[in-house]
Amino acid sequence: MSLLWVDELQTGVYDLDIKQIELFDRLNAFLMALGYKTGNPNICTNADIDMTFKFIEEYMIAHFDKEEGFIAEHQYPETETHKESHEAFKTNLARLKGKFDKRGISTTLTVETELYFKNWLTDHILTEDKAFGDFLQKKP
Ligand SMILES: [Fe+2]
Repeated sequence: MSLLWVDELQTGVYDLDIKQIELFDRLNAFLMALGYKTGNPNICTNADIDMTFKFIEEYMIAHFDKEEGFIAEHQYPETETHKESHEAFKTNLARLKGKFDKRGISTTLTVETELYFKNWLTDHILTEDKAFGDFLQKKP
C-alpha cells in the first residue's frame, strides 16, 4: 500500500501543495521501510524500528511547524484548531510506535499504521488544509 497524490488533494496554495507532495514521498519511503522490515522480521531490530519512526516523527514535526507558521502568518482564524489536529496525529504516531515497541513488528500493525496514515492525511488535507486554501484564495 502506498499513498497516492491525486489532484483532488490540491488546496490551491502552491506552497502547501508542493510540501504535501514531498510529504507523500517521505511517508511512502517510511511505509516501504516498515513493510520491508515486516517481511524480514529476523533482520529487523528494535533499533531499526526506533530509527524508522524517529525519522518520520522528526519530518512530520518539521512539516507541521512550517505549515502552522504559514497559516498563522496569514492570520487564519482556525489556526489553533488546525494545530490541534496536527497534535492528534503526533499523539497517534507515538501510540503506534508504542505498539511496535511492546509487540514487535507484525503485518497487522504495519497495515494499521498504513491505514491510519492514509485515512488521517486524506481527511486532513481534504477538510482542514483545503479550508485554509479557500480562506487564502478569498482573502483580499
Ligand atoms: Fe495541516
